[in-house]
Amino acid sequence: MKKKLIVGNWKMNGSLAANAALLQALKAGWPRGRGTAAVAVAVPSAYLAQAQAELAGSDIGVAAQDVSQHEVGAYTGELSAAMLQDFGVRFALVGHSERRQYHGETDAVVAMKAQAALAKGVTPIVCVGETLAEREAGQTEQVVKRQLAAVIHQVGPCVSELVVAYEPVWAIGTGKTATPEQAQAVHAVLRAQLAAASAKADGIALLYGGSMNAGNAEQLLAQADIDGGLVGGASLKAADFLTIIAAAR
Ligand code: 13P
Repeated sequence: MKKKLIVGNWKMNGSLAANAALLQALKAGWPRGRGTAAVAVAVPSAYLAQAQAELAGSDIGVAAQDVSQHEVGAYTGELSAAMLQDFGVRFALVGHSERRQYHGETDAVVAMKAQAALAKGVTPIVCVGETLAEREAGQTEQVVKRQLAAVIHQVGPCVSELVVAYEPVWAIGTGKTATPEQAQAVHAVLRAQLAAASAKADGIALLYGGSMNAGNAEQLLAQADIDGGLVGGASLKAADFLTIIAAAR
């Protein structure tokens, strides 16, 4: 069976002291033995160095929450893929709905970010997902396919190196999780779209995100095309995040 991937997205939360406590608790509670899921935490950029230092030698990887589409230069406030590479960052979220919504990131920008990350050996976790209005209008499939198509088109043969996260916007931070069946249905659509672009689509990790928690992770992760989770709020509590990791074995 494919190894599952669990990524915690801390969003704009944390402090030096709180991060140290959380990471130490994760390391202390780390499940040993075969079949443990691959795990990473996406920390605010200010704390990448701290996370890298705390997690050195552990099985937990560091992820960034965003990356610039530009290589280098006069882009105030941005973080380049080369900088992430410098810090041993394994993954970068791209196109999170909060970036699309609050920072006006378009499908084209998201696609360029994915490509910029790949060019430096950082695996992009491409986030797609529909709003409640789009779901109610019956547009879910159309929206996620459009979002993913832009990235597939941009990265060409590197499609198999992507991680894709389906995060229905209406499920993020709302406590309203997609049912395992709803999530699986969209994941199957994404898998088919990836299969049309790459012979290696079966190996692409498709994560579910949106109010995944210690209570619902196991059922979601049992679905055929759900290869892991992108976890927001529950990743800030060591016990909950460890329970999700244990459910992903
Ligand atoms: P919540 O798990 O808090 O709903 O957040 C999901 C998310 O946006 C992860 O990227």
